Amino acid sequence: MKELNINIPVEFKQESELDEQEQQLLAQAKEATQRSYSPYSHFSVGAAVLLDDGTIVCGSNQENSAFPSGLCAERTALFYANSRYPERSVKALCIAARDTSGRFTQRPVAPCGSCRQVMVETEYRFKQDIRILLYGLEGIYCIRSAREMLPVHFDGSFL
Ligand code: THU
Repeated sequence: MKELNINIPVEFKQESELDEQEQQLLAQAKEATQRSYSPYSHFSVGAAVLLDDGTIVCGSNQENSAFPSGLCAERTALFYANSRYPERSVKALCIAARDTSGRFTQRPVAPCGSCRQVMVETEYRFKQDIRILLYGLEGIYCIRSAREMLPVHFDGSFL
């Protein structure tokens, strides 16, 4: 038996340590939480996606009384970006969330598995790593790529 250890490098930064473009992306992700439709969970998530020409596309979680019919903020933003600008690769994605108290989460918010899978697909599609920024009041996790955030993932090479 051999044990494999898979480590993910994560930078933990304060907002002031982000570069100007990342700060803008974060501001957009925070603002997008205000457009969340989340009457069931009262958990408002905002995502902002940076395209290779500098365009920023935002999304928020959209819930539904028939629970599986809703969609997370990250996939709302990515699917919109990829359908509106199919030629533009995605360079970065930032997420912020406000909990039931209306305050931003203390811990950096974590994307769900399905959203990670869609981020990974987008990386393969454009052959471009997506820098991931996960915002929390205590700091921001900065991760080099979606593939690193979803180790041992399924992708088209299996098909
Ligand atoms: N949610 C997101 O929008 N992104 C995530 O990665 C985690 C969860 C949403 C889905 C649902 O509307 C609410 O947060 C509570 O799960």
